[in-house]
Amino acid sequence: MNATTDRPARRHRSWAEPWKVKVVEPIRMTTRAERERALLEAGFNTFLLRSEDVYIDLLTDSGTSAMSDSQWAGMMLGDEAYAGSRNFYHLEDAVRRYYGYRHVVPTHQGRGAENILSKVLIKPGDTVPGNMYFTTTRAHQELAGANFVDVIVREAHDPASDLPFKGNVDLAALEALIERVGASRIPYLCLAATVNMAGGQPVSMANIRAVHELARRYGIRVMLDATRAVENAYFIQQREAGFAGRSVAEILREFCSYSDGCTMSGKKDSLVNIGGWLAVNDAALYEEASNLVVLYEGLHTYGGMAGRDMEAMARGIEESVQDDHIRARIGQVEYLGEKLLEAGVPIVRPIGGHAVYLDAKAFYPHLDQEQFPAQALAAYLYEASGVRAMERGIVSAGRDRATGRNHHPALELVRLTIPRRVYTQAHMDVTAEAVIETYEQRASARGLRLVYEPKYLRFFQARFARD
Ligand code: F0G
Repeated sequence: MNATTDRPARRHRSWAEPWKVKVVEPIRMTTRAERERALLEAGFNTFLLRSEDVYIDLLTDSGTSAMSDSQWAGMMLGDEAYAGSRNFYHLEDAVRRYYGYRHVVPTHQGRGAENILSKVLIKPGDTVPGNMYFTTTRAHQELAGANFVDVIVREAHDPASDLPFKGNVDLAALEALIERVGASRIPYLCLAATVNMAGGQPVSMANIRAVHELARRYGIRVMLDATRAVENAYFIQQREAGFAGRSVAEILREFCSYSDGCTMSGKKDSLVNIGGWLAVNDAALYEEASNLVVLYEGLHTYGGMAGRDMEAMARGIEESVQDDHIRARIGQVEYLGEKLLEAGVPIVRPIGGHAVYLDAKAFYPHLDQEQFPAQALAAYLYEASGVRAMERGIVSAGRDRATGRNHHPALELVRLTIPRRVYTQAHMDVTAEAVIETYEQRASARGLRLVYEPKYLRFFQARFARD
């Protein structure tokens, strides 16, 4: 039996969202001519489109969730004192209760926490291993002087591999790296769950346990990127032997117990529009982080958030770990993914937790990776339908710091990211139709070339022209 409902977990039944809609926000369909103009103005970069010109916005699940009536009610209970807001203590309590860490440093969003963690722990020349890079995370590690080394399992780089835990760390690769560079040059291991750049793929409980043991043996910290750890916990409940009868909340607590702390973007799992935190168990580390946060974010009891934002996040955390919520959330992503699989569209398998990822290399085999196939595909999809997606390929991967050459990631993807509690199945149907239509026209697709490239995190602001 499932922990929060009284229906058997295995028998097939249609599911529905455990909420109903109370407020709606109108969206506007545009004409193809309008979209062509908008895309030109945006330099073929979906980040540079105006949201007004977007019909169904699947750019990101970050900060785009719909809050509940309880969260909105909490916004009215904001204690906007500069210091010691009661909402901070509520947030701290929620993090302790559901994630299990001792000390919490609030930040304005995830990258604020990444900045503090990197500055506190990394010395120039250090190495930070991780299960695939994430854009902002690696950027902060590199700015602090570290080298990021990918130690994810090989299958993570193969869109067609059906491994249930493609986010896992390759333990042999991790141990070989530690032996090569020496444990003293590895300030921490950065473990993301789920792994965004691999397609929203989870890490198993067995793997994080083994990582924890290995790291402990060498005296290396394990720092979790807990941004989508609730979604990860759901996959463990569904896929890993021995967890079917346990609640997502219990699984999350155990999962986090194999790490020494985490960075968190509350804009994803925690169902808020803004906010994040850094959590650690070590008191000395907390002292340093809570001192540094006053330089970059704000006092250690607000860290860049208003009191009301912290209240919404405290409430969001509690809602996010409910089994009914997470089943419906991931169920909707699977609904879209399965429609695309049925139509023969190449997507990353298994279907991820927060998004469906189109495999742009398989979509456009006639384009070279230097012609930015995923960026081109996101542009075509928008042009055809008004659906906005995001590139996660060579543009996102950026350049090697030493050689200046483009990284060539094995995965060249377009991410259709589903905001939480925002769109209906009908929106997913329209999206699937738009993708299928774009797939049918794949032979005539042309590539792009870069015409402007910013220095940091280029995918956000780069501009392109069509070949
Ligand atoms: N870690 C992961 C795994 C993320 O996906 C993100 C953000 C961050 C850290 C940084 O958090 O945005 O609050 O500063 N991902 C967004 C996305 C931008 O669209 O995937 P942030």
